[in-house]
Amino acid sequence: MRLLITGFNGFVAGSVIAHARGEWEIHGIGRSESPSNGPGIYYHTLDLLDEEGFTALFNKIRPDAVIHTAAMANIDLCEQYQEQAEKINVGVTKMIARLCAAQGVKMVFCSTDTVFDGIKGDYIESDPPHAVNFYAETKIVGEQIVLSSSPDNVVARLALVMGIPVIGKGNSFLADMMEKLKKGIQIPFPANEVRTPVDVITLGSSLVELAGNQYGGIIHLSGCTKINRYQMGLEIAAALGYSPDLILSVNSNAMPGRAPRANDASMDNSLARQILKTPMRTLSEGLSLTLNFKR
Ligand SMILES: NC(=O)c1ccc[n+]([C@@H]2O[C@H](COP(=O)([O-])OP(=O)(O)OC[C@H]3O[C@@H](n4cnc5c(N)ncnc54)[C@H](OP(=O)(O)O)[C@@H]3O)[C@@H](O)[C@H]2O)c1
Repeated sequence: MRLLITGFNGFVAGSVIAHARGEWEIHGIGRSESPSNGPGIYYHTLDLLDEEGFTALFNKIRPDAVIHTAAMANIDLCEQYQEQAEKINVGVTKMIARLCAAQGVKMVFCSTDTVFDGIKGDYIESDPPHAVNFYAETKIVGEQIVLSSSPDNVVARLALVMGIPVIGKGNSFLADMMEKLKKGIQIPFPANEVRTPVDVITLGSSLVELAGNQYGGIIHLSGCTKINRYQMGLEIAAALGYSPDLILSVNSNAMPGRAPRANDASMDNSLARQILKTPMRTLSEGLSLTLNFKR
């Protein structure tokens, strides 16, 4: 069974690769030169905006499933460079969904808790999304494309992802946080943003499971702890043995020049707990899992 993973060098993809290794023949796409890979892992250097190149590669690999993690995932960059964000988050998603549908390939799309406006909280899969920033707008359109392309496809809405990158680097707030704590640098965390963070190890395992099982539709991949990001910063600092004085409370919606953020984007993970073999975890369980994961 062949698995195609986009965003190969990203934070989430690193954990997906670690969990798919041995079970799937892995083909990854990234823009940089080939990293060193283990057996059964094939890396293809390609910009996903190159539609012709991607189509040729897709037809050559003939994957059994695709996990699409690649995106412009920085909320403020998406707000600033909307044309580029739309091309990557919508255009590329559409291209992949079209090829998957034409060849009967299951597609797992990484969406986000940010599709919700943050007014209600505890969102379930059937709650209607409502964007408060451009990143969310692109992800909502991506979701609709993926869901309408095939009933087998999965829209996995990822909560805030916490963890140390398993392979490569990518967009990890915990890795940045640990660097800063070590140097005694104070770190701002938004107290207005309530989330249900998911650890990257649980997430990688869940996404691989979804690529190989029968589930189709929307699923919320979120942790079992509902917490604001300031409180989360305090808990992580305490678990790592650092002073709470290094964690500062801010309001992300009062910071000039930033895209609006959803306040309470917490997601209910009942469905994931019901249908996945991978257990959903609390913040402290997830933290311990990511810190101790064998790389
Ligand atoms: N991290 C979170 O907290 C979080 C939460 C909710 C949802 N998500 C979603 O989960 C997915 C993975 O997030 P992540 O944290 O792993 O992000 P990430 O570390 O920023 O990885 C994204 C990857 O996408 C690749 N990419 C972007 N544009 C590309 C292009 N034109 N061609 C080829 N590759 C391209 C990037 O490649 P380069 O390395 O070349 O730039 C990068 O490796 C994203 O869809 C994101 O929206 C993440």
